[in-house]
Amino acid sequence: MSTPNISKKEIINAFKFRHATKEFDATKKLSDEEIKFILETAHLSPSSFGFEPWHFVVVQDKELREMLKPVAWGAPVKLDTASHFILGLSMKAPMVKHDADYIMSMMKDVKQLPAEVIEMYSKFYREFQERDFNLDSDQKLFDWASKQTYIALGNMMTSAALAGIDSCPIEGFHQEKAEALLRDKFGVDTDKYGLSYMVAFGYRKAEPEFPKSRRNFEDIVTWK
Ligand SMILES: Cc1cc2nc3c(=O)[nH]c(=O)nc-3n(C[C@H](O)[C@H](O)[C@H](O)COP(=O)(O)O)c2cc1C
Repeated sequence: MSTPNISKKEIINAFKFRHATKEFDATKKLSDEEIKFILETAHLSPSSFGFEPWHFVVVQDKELREMLKPVAWGAPVKLDTASHFILGLSMKAPMVKHDADYIMSMMKDVKQLPAEVIEMYSKFYREFQERDFNLDSDQKLFDWASKQTYIALGNMMTSAALAGIDSCPIEGFHQEKAEALLRDKFGVDTDKYGLSYMVAFGYRKAEPEFPKSRRNFEDIVTWK
């Protein structure tokens, strides 16, 4: 595979270009190729043990977008104007607990590991969950899966910015109400999946109202 040919300056420019876009230009749409490119960067994202504990629902149906508004206070303008609107779902305990069928199937069918490696991996994974990370509740397991799904979020937003596409991550929603809606109207099995975030993609309607503000670099990095 060839070495990526993009300068550091261009990468930092993309980070500066990206901002949490409050309102999109509703007349501008991403092509199928563009949204698939963004989703492919989620697909290729790293995850702990490589178990990919996520699912992405692309909500293009107008009625479904309307239904999300009452449960997502951070989203109405984005639901109206974004070209593409994605729900980032993460797996719950029945999917990601060390002895879940999904985990076994990932090792056997996706990674195609030999039986003795699966046995070794299963032991590691159990120790990681029970001993090292103390993932002893359903909430902790969902939060741990969510951490992986947020890596995909970062990658999607960064690659969108590199391609000149705007985005906005959204946690402004009522988790319980949103999940009930996903169960009743979106066909999501909420015993297995929970909603971690929403993210909107499109093209900005206007330049950001405020310049980017960040703490001093020296205040967030310690060199030893
Ligand atoms: C996990 C997460 C959730 C967020 N939720 C919302 C939201 O619900 N609505 C919104 O307008 N912005 C939301 N934001 C955007 C942040 O407010 C924004 O990223 C931050 O203020 C920094 O500004 P910048 O992204 O423009 O650099 C969220 C950001 C993150 C990372």
